[in-house]
Amino acid sequence: MASRKPMVAGNWKMNGSVELITTMADTLKNASNNKIDVLIFPPFPLLSKALEADIVAGSQTVSHEDAGAFTGEVDAKLVFELGCKYTLVGHSERRSIYGESNDVVALKFEKAQENKLIPILCVGESETQREQGLTESVVAEQLNVVIDKLGVAALVNSVIAYEPVWAIGTGKTASPKQAQEVHKFIRNKIAALDMSIAENITLLYGGSVNDQNSELLFAQADIDGGLIGGASLKPDAFLSICNSAQ
Ligand code: G3P
Repeated sequence: MASRKPMVAGNWKMNGSVELITTMADTLKNASNNKIDVLIFPPFPLLSKALEADIVAGSQTVSHEDAGAFTGEVDAKLVFELGCKYTLVGHSERRSIYGESNDVVALKFEKAQENKLIPILCVGESETQREQGLTESVVAEQLNVVIDKLGVAALVNSVIAYEPVWAIGTGKTASPKQAQEVHKFIRNKIAALDMSIAENITLLYGGSVNDQNSELLFAQADIDGGLIGGASLKPDAFLSICNSAQ
């Protein structure tokens, strides 16, 4: 029997402030009941403030390199030593804006785990790829680069976030049926390799989740929570989304 604890993560991207950290910490403290895992991925300059405010904070990305002459890069070891437990890997904006290939994503996934971070592997198709019926092949390839390099066992200490690119920041949320179909595909793909990992891995949905649509999405059998962008910058809306995941 699967024992998947619901999870709601807020990806602030390059937004937020010290004041928002304080407000969010107060909001989440009033609601914390340990029934779900709540985490925030703030911009790097706010990570320490978030951790000091007892927010479970994560890194929006880490380098696939070890410490060295990589100006501007983020060392996974230091992120762990700072107190972070999670890092995003392969977010669509890292792939599209900063050119992170599937191979680099797999290297970042590996570096994160080497440094005791839990990677949240982001996968998802573009609107064109969905219209061409390529959703499953795109998502399969994004998973395969990690599984082929590290083995399915590497998924034990990881989370997968399905974020259709066409739903990110657009207000065009995947329907619960659309999202569940891809989540089921992901879980079945993993089950073909290891049933126990498939049953226990947390699968998050991301892409225009808000406090009006989260409950129906999270009610789906293979959706274990959400990776929230814009709505995670509004403490009351984010709290409502968290409550809908319980
Ligand atoms: O990582 C989550 C993010 O990409 C989703 O953004 O604004 O569509 O919730 P948003």
